[in-house]
Amino acid sequence: HGTQLVNEQGHLEIGGCDTVQLVNEFGTPLYIMDEAHIRGICRQYYSSFVEDMENAEVIYASKAFSTLAMCRIIAEEGLGLDVVSGGELYTALQANFPTARIYFHGNNKSREELAMALNAGVGRIVVDNFHEMSILNEIATDLNQQVDILLRVTPGIEAHTHEYIQTGQIDSKFGFTLPDGTADRALDLALSYSHLVVKGIHAHIGSQIFELDSFRHEVQIMINYLADIHERTGCLLQELNLGGGFGIYYASGDDPAQITDYAKTVQSSLEDACRARKFPRPKVIVEPGRSIVGTAGITLYTVGSIKEIPEVRKYVAVDGGMADNPRPALYQARYEAVLANRANEETVESVSITGKCCESGDMLIWDIDLPKAISGDILAVSCTGAYNYSMSSNYNRLTRPGVVLVKDGHADVIVKRETHSDLLRNDILPARLKFLQ
Ligand code: LLP
Repeated sequence: HGTQLVNEQGHLEIGGCDTVQLVNEFGTPLYIMDEAHIRGICRQYYSSFVEDMENAEVIYASKAFSTLAMCRIIAEEGLGLDVVSGGELYTALQANFPTARIYFHGNNKSREELAMALNAGVGRIVVDNFHEMSILNEIATDLNQQVDILLRVTPGIEAHTHEYIQTGQIDSKFGFTLPDGTADRALDLALSYSHLVVKGIHAHIGSQIFELDSFRHEVQIMINYLADIHERTGCLLQELNLGGGFGIYYASGDDPAQITDYAKTVQSSLEDACRARKFPRPKVIVEPGRSIVGTAGITLYTVGSIKEIPEVRKYVAVDGGMADNPRPALYQARYEAVLANRANEETVESVSITGKCCESGDMLIWDIDLPKAISGDILAVSCTGAYNYSMSSNYNRLTRPGVVLVKDGHADVIVKRETHSDLLRNDILPARLKFLQ
């Protein structure tokens, strides 16, 4: 993936950096992000959506991986940004991200978060529910501001993906249900609010989607809905945000589509649907998260204990696990890995990679073929750029790994490794517990 190769010493290289040297310098576990690869994907998105299609925008869903440096890269590449919390918004603002290109999502935004977004002047608030709509109008009225919004609708599509990351089906906590008329009520109400300006609609049908037909189906439903709105209310909404969800390769068997084909599918289904309903083609927005950073990241671990249960399984334990990558435990996500210090060697045995957390579910990879691993080897797990650092935890009081950004042989720390004292940063001993001292 990206700029990965094996050098003369048989070490895995990424971004021109020898992973064994990275480990010597920064320790393990360690997240590595390949800057050239991220920028290359941003450019594919930019050229196939923004340049080749008129009136389109690509915004990066920062929940996949949000740091100051990442926000800067996205800003430089000309993409917009999707944030879903005060914390992601704060990160974007601290990175000086152009606020007009920020979209604020979320199903339970607080009053404080909404006020923060309005004060910052974010481009669009994607309104999810009636509660939010009314407090947003109140805050906007207080600030004497007109706020541009999109309405999030739940179109009733079930994309083929893990059920925890499906979001378009009717039984979902997100958005205004389209088929039962709730979305119509939401629109009518939004139009009646003095300080809300409805610019368009949004839907997100799920994540890690391989079937481009799911997006075609989504476009049809959404264009039909825009045309229905026009006929019913006379209101011509000209922004259609299709959400994210474009799938990536993690492990053998995954067969993702090309970004150019994704763009062509969106383009042609928009044309078809608009022609069928004689509706003017709206501005189209897509919100990829995983597909921008997923394949750009690897995680480096050191192999520690190895337990062999004859005829059953060999467990190879690494110095991280579900605290830095909860995806296998949460979604049965699959990953591939190599021994980074012996990347040329033949694979000779099937082992299972486990972490160091105190529970049996703390597995990173079941049954992977590797050279014979010994304690001290470096294991590189690939495609960990999305939803790994951003979903990491301090479970078992493990410290979060650092993140290093590599490019052309340079390695820069963009997130420092946590220390034990970081774990106690917010701990407070009440006076009545201090007597032992
Ligand atoms: N837009 C909205 C409104 C979303 O809810 C999401 C993801 C995206 C865009 C970006 O979707 P992507 O292109 O990354 O598929 N933690 C899970 C994924 C949860 C995705 C949630 N929403 C995982 O690790 O697989």
